Amino acid sequence: MASADDLRHAKLPLNNGSGAIPALGFGTLIPDPVATGIATKAALEAGFRLLDTAERYRTETQVGEAMREVFDEGRVKRKDVFVVTKLWNTNHRPERVKPAFEASLRKLQLDYVDLYLIHTPFAFQPGDEQDPRDASGAVIYDKAVTLLDTWRALERLVDEGRCRAIGLSDVNLEQAKGIFDAARIKPAVVHVESHPYLPEWELLNYCRKNGIVFQAFAALGHSSEPSLLEDPVVTAVASRVNKTPAQVLLAWAIQRGTALLTTSKTSGRIRENFDVSRIPEDAVREISEGVKLRVRFNSVVETGVPGFIARGK
Ligand SMILES: NC(=O)c1ccc[n+]([C@@H]2O[C@H](COP(=O)([O-])OP(=O)(O)OC[C@H]3O[C@@H](n4cnc5c(N)ncnc54)[C@H](OP(=O)(O)O)[C@@H]3O)[C@@H](O)[C@H]2O)c1
Repeated sequence: MASADDLRHAKLPLNNGSGAIPALGFGTLIPDPVATGIATKAALEAGFRLLDTAERYRTETQVGEAMREVFDEGRVKRKDVFVVTKLWNTNHRPERVKPAFEASLRKLQLDYVDLYLIHTPFAFQPGDEQDPRDASGAVIYDKAVTLLDTWRALERLVDEGRCRAIGLSDVNLEQAKGIFDAARIKPAVVHVESHPYLPEWELLNYCRKNGIVFQAFAALGHSSEPSLLEDPVVTAVASRVNKTPAQVLLAWAIQRGTALLTTSKTSGRIRENFDVSRIPEDAVREISEGVKLRVRFNSVVETGVPGFIARGK
């Protein structure tokens, strides 16, 4: 358990791979490519040591360039940054996994990633069109491949030493259990939307019991309505403990035992979000028990169609 001073450097042990994953992570789902590069550099400079990207975000190139600049300047070393990227839905067929993974590595200018996730459990029609639709606008799914087929292809990437750990994203409890039970290499991380409006206690408890890191995205509620940052329980705790609502939400997530991802294109907020420290346990409880509203902001878990993607093509 992290001490009062080191919440921002807290790490959670991984059941395979690089040993441990930073609890506090920076996501790069930022629509504007220039802003993505600037924010990624600012995040590394502020102290973030986990970067999350994805083939589908179309931010791997900018994240790669930003990392390269920072590494070349000698300010941060590659080995000290935990890099995560994701396989998109159109690449679930086993023969498409390695080429997709290698394309991600090239864009990131890396020779390995610390964690590779299956972005969603939904397989889409394979091909270059990331959002395949039929004439009526309905998503075209690929029935010829199962999530386990794709998982086996990710296991082979681990065998080859190309990615250190593998995991699942946007899965429900049943899907996580299905892969965990059948896997030769167990999922190291389950990455899902989670915050006080969507605490996902059952999935978190399952992950805890089975040594899987639960990583929460949209930890601040993705600037969506109803605003988590303006929730009366959160703002009351924030003024009592003399922190910002964002810092309280990030501390809550880490202190309840999850890793998290937050994103900002604003350098002041990036620094604010790295400046997390422990809140009293009764404040953690107050948020866990006092926030009653339940909201899912991102419907990707229902269809595989990303809810937050702003960069269309
Ligand atoms: N697997 C998936 O399906 C999936 C889906 C969604 C997200 N993700 C990952 O999770 C990451 C985080 O998700 P998210 O973007 O929803 O995170 P978030 O941190 O909940 O929301 C980001 C929003 O909060 C604002 N913000 C950040 N810090 C703030 C602060 N201190 N005070 C006030 N507002 C603040 C940002 O605005 P500014 O930028 O204007 O500062 C931005 O609009 C993504 O980047 C991505 O890597 C994964």
